[in-house]
Amino acid sequence: MKVRISASLMCADPLRLEEAVRQLEDAGCDWFHIDIMDGRFVPNLAMNFETVRRIKQISRVPLDVHLMVEQPEQYLDQAIDAGSDIITCHAESTRCPIRLLEKIRRNNVQAGLAVNPFTALHQLRYLVDYLDLLLLMTVEPGFAGQKFIAAMHAKIGEARSLVGGINLAVDGNISTGNALAALEAGANILVAGTSAVFKKGGSLAQNLRQFRESLD
Ligand code: DX5
Ligand code: ZN
Repeated sequence: MKVRISASLMCADPLRLEEAVRQLEDAGCDWFHIDIMDGRFVPNLAMNFETVRRIKQISRVPLDVHLMVEQPEQYLDQAIDAGSDIITCHAESTRCPIRLLEKIRRNNVQAGLAVNPFTALHQLRYLVDYLDLLLLMTVEPGFAGQKFIAAMHAKIGEARSLVGGINLAVDGNISTGNALAALEAGANILVAGTSAVFKKGGSLAQNLRQFRESLD
């Protein structure tokens, strides 16, 4: 499957967001990952739909919007109107995921579901037909810069067997140290945050290129 790097823009310097978007796009970043939080599903706030809309105006890179919110139903219209290309909601945040995923697809947006590290995968077998992407959190959601949970390596393999040929993303402390193992286990979308791209030293473009080279 095609391997894609989705740079997580909440890790960018907020005062230099436009520069980050332009640099990463020029350096061939595949997707932009945009984290939206409500302070309830997770104890933090991140980016917002106005930011999504503004990024859409200056970039042609697909926008991969990760909703870490309670009642994602309430935010879908805004996420769609802002120009999201992929909308990923958390399995833990809704009782009716099929309704949610169908609504996303009806609006010609790709439908994703995210699962926290603690969430078991078995129930997802009922949802595969409605999914364009499954996102495995490899840290607890809510903050950048946390440590990869080692047990997630085995979960990536399990998830790949379950979802067949759809996109399988990993999100949380993905770095040159663990990305190759994640790909080998079956992931094909790497959310690149603090340790992969937005680390200190080197330009974002250099970091992105080095990260990509480390995958060969
Ligand atoms: C965390 C977010 C991630 C975060 C990843 O809850 O979903 O997208 O930005 O950042 P790192 O790679 O630093 O864990
Ligand atoms: Zn995310």
